[in-house]
Amino acid sequence: MRGFFISVEGSDGSGKSTQIRKIEEYLRKMKQEVLLTREPGGTTISEKIRELLLDPSNKGMAAKTEMLLYAAARAQHVEEFIVPNLEQGKNILTDRFTDSSIAYQGFGREMGEVVAEVNRMATGGLLPDITFYLELPPEEGIARKKTEINHKLDRLELEKQEFHQKVYHGYKELCHMHAQRIMKIDASQDIETVFAQIQAGLDRLFGF
Ligand code: TYD
Repeated sequence: MRGFFISVEGSDGSGKSTQIRKIEEYLRKMKQEVLLTREPGGTTISEKIRELLLDPSNKGMAAKTEMLLYAAARAQHVEEFIVPNLEQGKNILTDRFTDSSIAYQGFGREMGEVVAEVNRMATGGLLPDITFYLELPPEEGIARKKTEINHKLDRLELEKQEFHQKVYHGYKELCHMHAQRIMKIDASQDIETVFAQIQAGLDRLFGF
């Protein structure tokens, strides 16, 4: 049987990494094999593209270049890692997927519909079976990130508040459009409350 494909989305500083660790632990406890990966990244080539994308010195990167590079990293990730593993029956847990491009490049950079089209081509139409979106207003997310010791803000995190507002709005639209697939969770709640909701989604998906 094909594995399940799970993605986690959230604005910067929404507690995504903590919840991803908890999902992984829970699935292992339930005797499910799960491979953890991230975007941009997940393969050697995609990780090289990631460096280009996040480097704060690439201030001059055009919006089109940025959108195509995220899609290029994703195409490699899907073809080399995600699809072959799903076909072998492994479950995949990814830190971000296409929804990020629609929110950040489609809404944040105002590139619109073309982002979904390019990504349909890049992924062959692959979508997660379930997406957990950790919602947090952007001013709270960035404030949390800044208090992390030694956290250097990347090129996207350095964007103006207005950009992050547009991304936030983009995720709201995505939640409306894909109400069946995306589970929106209020990330301002404590870690265990957030995870309880995620667990309910996992239990439904896996039939635990
Ligand atoms: P990362 O260090 O993974 O940040 P986070 O902990 O917030 O996930 O950096 C990924 C950055 O790239 C993040 O700011 C969101 C952005 N991004 C896009 O703009 N488009 C995309 O398609 C993806 C996958 C990420």
